[in-house]
Amino acid sequence: MRTLALAVSGRGLVDPAEPVIRADDEALARGRAVFETLRVYGGAPFRLHEHLDRLARSAILVGIQEPDQAELERLAALALGRAAVPDAVLRFYWTPGPPDGDPVAVALVTAIPAWIEPARERGQHLLSLLSPRRSAPWLLAGTKSTSYAANMAAELEAKRRGFDDALFVDADRVVLEGPVTNVWWRVEQTLYTPALDLGILAGETRATLVELAGGLGYSVTEGAFALDEALREADEVFTSSSVREVMPVVGVDEARFPRGPAAGELQVALRRLAGGEGS
Ligand SMILES: Cc1ncc(COP(=O)(O)O)c(C=O)c1O
Repeated sequence: MRTLALAVSGRGLVDPAEPVIRADDEALARGRAVFETLRVYGGAPFRLHEHLDRLARSAILVGIQEPDQAELERLAALALGRAAVPDAVLRFYWTPGPPDGDPVAVALVTAIPAWIEPARERGQHLLSLLSPRRSAPWLLAGTKSTSYAANMAAELEAKRRGFDDALFVDADRVVLEGPVTNVWWRVEQTLYTPALDLGILAGETRATLVELAGGLGYSVTEGAFALDEALREADEVFTSSSVREVMPVVGVDEARFPRGPAAGELQVALRRLAGGEGS
């Protein structure tokens, strides 16, 4: 992660090499803190308020104080001004702080990871891995808590076995999501994606692609789909996230998929929308 700028509550712009979280912050002790990751296009964060609203929902589920959205917006503007680049990744962290102190708000601007565009050219290979379906809110389904180590461990496991990333399925092999992505597949003119009530993250990119699909001649069907049946029928597979945008998938486990038109068309439409909309 190449850091371009950092802003912290009560301090303003901070040298990215400076420490910002105390050792007795609950974020470190128990992983009880929340975060958001979003894409900056033309210097403006895309869907900023939607991401801040999701941060607030995550904070409620984790059981910490709700974030100060105005403060986070101020910090984002400061950090983006300092970074002064059109395209970047903006991250927010909101921690409860130390027992005797205030919550900590952080806005961090980093460069777009260099591996993304080559991976988009090549397409990714995913490995299906078991993840329990999490329907109880206290299991933090669809919550961007900083306890993401299990998601990262799944990505590592996929890489260790020669794949690019993981694809979570539940005990009945119902398709869920990736460690940091939502998943999609196309059968003719219909795009399929797992329903939010399966206990997956309500991706902002997912929501944007649902909006864009109709204009490109695709319908969207959300539901609970068995992986093996989905793989048999799919003409094309891709994932979506704020940072990776629309990422073609050319293999899941042993199955192989051709590159199809939908991922490319949605990627172009997403960039056009983001470029026009700013925040
Ligand atoms: C588990 C999970 N699913 C899906 C996504 C995609 O969400 P978004 O499109 O809002 O980036 C993410 C993003 O980090 C994620 O962590």
